Amino acid sequence: ERGEYRHYMQKEIFEQPRAVADTLESRIGPHGVLPNIFGVGGDELLAKVRGVHIIACGTSYHAGLVAKYWIEEYARLPVAVEVASEYRYREAVVPADTLFVAISQSGETADTLAAMRESRRRGYLGTLAICNVPESSVVREADLKLMTRAGPEIGVASTKAFTTQLAALALLTLRLAHERGLDETRYLALCEQLQSLPRMIEQALQLEPEIQALAEHFIPRHHALFLGRGVQFPVALEGSLKLKEISYIHAEAYPAGELKHGPLALVDEDMPVVAVAPNGPLLDKLKSNLQEVRARGGELIVFADKAAPMDGNPSRGSVLRVDAGGEFIAPAVFTVPLQLLSYHVAVLRGTDVDQPRNLAKSVTVE
Ligand code: F6R
Repeated sequence: ERGEYRHYMQKEIFEQPRAVADTLESRIGPHGVLPNIFGVGGDELLAKVRGVHIIACGTSYHAGLVAKYWIEEYARLPVAVEVASEYRYREAVVPADTLFVAISQSGETADTLAAMRESRRRGYLGTLAICNVPESSVVREADLKLMTRAGPEIGVASTKAFTTQLAALALLTLRLAHERGLDETRYLALCEQLQSLPRMIEQALQLEPEIQALAEHFIPRHHALFLGRGVQFPVALEGSLKLKEISYIHAEAYPAGELKHGPLALVDEDMPVVAVAPNGPLLDKLKSNLQEVRARGGELIVFADKAAPMDGNPSRGSVLRVDAGGEFIAPAVFTVPLQLLSYHVAVLRGTDVDQPRNLAKSVTVE
């Protein structure tokens, strides 16, 4: 039931604190990630992992891209991420002791399932499914599994499925990082940060009225550009996918450093540019990228970390403050305002938010 909400998508966006908390429940505690959360023999298998291949489609693929930044940074293991429809038809090289990870909300996506079947032939150490439907094909066929506990997702555009996938992938990252000798103090600090994620998402949801006001700017637009750097680049990709699929505004995402290598040519006063600006070593670089947009009259909408030193409002556009709650969980927190932005733009444009044209919730054909 939708209850007080206007659409399932809005309800599901607001269910995220609960869904993420459920996904972390009894899997992580004050001393770290609990044993045996990936199924029988999981910890033994994960101890042997020397590399990771992640396969998924759409939004689930974007979750995989975030995990690449995490696993490489904290566990120092090489990670490759690929969309399932490409992976299954090419001869990927599989180094010894590589873990195959399939990410899927439904567990029935044809390309993801076929990629997992194909992986059997390619000599992986084992397969892990990160999935929201326990009785699905992807889960049944995987060696190891970590269920997201988002509950049923009705809106075609994935929201709580994505943030719970990030929570599950964060648990995988921490397990691998601990195994690979991450400093104990740092490990425990990251565990604590992850446990604060439901609370930080709850806070981000409070931005809804401001975001709703911002959404007005997008009503007459035909295009939008999303920028991020580092681990926020996949968040920008996810933000642009959400806007495309429910509001039918053409949107593209770029790592901000690529702007001057082409897309800057598109920027004029009709091009809104949405940037995700967390605090961290890349902030100054991002700011100079944004300066390039400003100089061309582009309208800037910046979601900036509360802790990030930013000047006041740009001459055209706005800066919204988000409390990211720490570098590790920031991509999950910053996802929320972008979901709200797409949702309100779509509502204002009068599209069928829960059932966007031409799309199906579960893509069981190739
Ligand atoms: C976008 C969306 C799709 C799915 C994709 C994979 O909002 O929902 O891009 O993420 O079709 O679906 P699953 O995760 O069920 O394999």
